[in-house]
Amino acid sequence: MAFSRLSRRLFATIAAWSALGLSAKLAGSARAQSAERGLADRGVVAGFPHDFLWGTATSAYQIEGAVNADGRGASIWDGFAHTPGNISDRSNADVAADHYHRYREDVQLMKALGTRAYRFSIAWPRVFPDGGGLPNPKGLDFYNRLLDEMLANGIEPFATLYHWDLPQPLQDRFGGWTSRDTAKAFADYAGYVAEHLSDRVKHIFTINECSRLVHLGHGTGQDAPGLKLSQPEMNQVRHHVALGHGLAVQAIRARGRAGTKVGPAENMVSCVPAIATPEHIRAAEIATRELNAGYLTVMLEGKYTDAYLADGNNAPKYAPEDLGIISSPLDFVGLNVYTPDHYVVAADNISGFALAPFPASFPHMDPGWLRFGPEAMYWAPRHLAKLWDVKSIYITENGTSSTDRPAADGGVDDLDRIMYLRNYLTQLQRATAEGVPVNGYFLWSLLDNFEWSDGLDKRFGLYRVDFDTQRRTPKLSAAFYRETIKRNAVA
Ligand code: FCB
Repeated sequence: MAFSRLSRRLFATIAAWSALGLSAKLAGSARAQSAERGLADRGVVAGFPHDFLWGTATSAYQIEGAVNADGRGASIWDGFAHTPGNISDRSNADVAADHYHRYREDVQLMKALGTRAYRFSIAWPRVFPDGGGLPNPKGLDFYNRLLDEMLANGIEPFATLYHWDLPQPLQDRFGGWTSRDTAKAFADYAGYVAEHLSDRVKHIFTINECSRLVHLGHGTGQDAPGLKLSQPEMNQVRHHVALGHGLAVQAIRARGRAGTKVGPAENMVSCVPAIATPEHIRAAEIATRELNAGYLTVMLEGKYTDAYLADGNNAPKYAPEDLGIISSPLDFVGLNVYTPDHYVVAADNISGFALAPFPASFPHMDPGWLRFGPEAMYWAPRHLAKLWDVKSIYITENGTSSTDRPAADGGVDDLDRIMYLRNYLTQLQRATAEGVPVNGYFLWSLLDNFEWSDGLDKRFGLYRVDFDTQRRTPKLSAAFYRETIKRNAVA
C-alpha cells in the first residue's frame, strides 16, 4: 500500500527522530506531529556550498568531568569553580556531562545529527599534569580513543589545544599567562600533541577566544584564574597569549605531520555597519581592525596598529621578533560568532568610526550578553576575508542557551534556539553565496554542559543532559539542525 504524501513525510520524520534516539512513543506523539507541520514550512536554510562542513563544538572542561581520572592534573578552573561565589548556580564541572566515560554514546549523537565534523578541545592537564615535563600517556590515551571512535563513525576531528583549562602548576609557578614562560610551555604542549595526534587530526586550533581569556580571566575576574589586573598588566597578558598562539603554530608545523592545518578560534570583536552603505561599511572595517588590534590584527598583520601603540595604556612591552612569531602564517581562521558587539557608523573624527550605543530595548536571547543580531554572522567573516585576505574560515562556535524546560515526556521545544539558528544561518548562507570563503560551521553545543561561571544552569546543547542521570535527550533544535544538514546535502 502506497503511503499518502503526508504519511510518507511523517514516516520520514519519525525515522529521523528515532535516529536521534527518540522513543517510538514520543515520535508518534503530538510533538512529532507538530514537528511534522514545522518541516512542511521548509523553515531550514538551504543553499550552502555542497562541500560545506557541518559540525558541533564542545570543550574539554565543559563536558568531560572525570577530573581525577587517569592521572589528570589540576586546572585553574577546578579551584576556581570550587571557590564559593564564582559559579552562579554553585555547580562545578567535576562530573559535567561525564563525556570522559560516555564519549562513545556522544559520538553516536553527532552521527544521528548527520554532522561530519566535531570540534573538541584537549585538556592540557590530562596530557601534562604538571604543565610541562613528563607527559601522562593515560591522559593522551583518552583522546586516542575518542579520535578512533570519531573516525570509525565518519566524524572528522577538529582539535582545540587551549580552551582555558590551564594546568594549575603553571599558575602557581609563574603566574600563568602573566609570564612569557606560559607561552613557551604552551608551545611545548602543542608540539607534543601535534606529534602524537596529527596522524588523525588534520585541523588544529591553537587558543580559543584570546580576548575572553584575557579580559574575563585577568580583567574582570569572572573566569579563572579570577585575576583583576591593572590595565598595563592585562595588556602584557594579552601579548603573552598572542605570543603563545604564534609559538604553538610554529611548534605544530615543526612536529606535526606535513599538511597539518592550524589557526586560531577567535571571538573577533564583531562590528556591524548600522546601515549598509559604503561609508558605514568602511567604518565598520576600520573599527574591526582597531578593536581587534591585540588579537587577529597582530596575528594577521604582524604589527600592532598605530592607535593601539599610541594609547599608552594599551601598549604592551615586547621584543621586536615577537611580532614575527605571532604572525606565523595560518591555514585558516576560526570565528566564534554569537552577537554583534558593536553597530558602527562613519564619523568625522581621527579614527573614522563611531560606535552607536545600544538602546536598552535591543533584544537579547536567554543570556543577557547575547544580543540577537543575525547580521553579525554575515559581517564578521566578510570583514575577515576583506581586511586580511583570509582564504579559509570556519565558524567555530555559534548558538544560544534557552530556558529549555522539559515537557512531561522529556522533550524540549526550544523554539527560541531554532529561531536564532535559522536567522544566523540565513546570514551565513548569504555570506557563502557572495563568495566569502567559509568552509564549515560548528554549532555550540552538542550537549548541555558546564557554562563556566553560569554553571550548569545555562543550557546551550542540541541534546538536553539530565545532570542527575546523564540521560541525553534531543531537543527540537536537534531535529532542526539535522534537517538543515540533510537539506543542504541533497541541494
Ligand atoms: C564561548 C566559549 C564557549 C561557550 C560559549 C557559550 O565564549 O568559547 O566555551 O562558553 O561561549
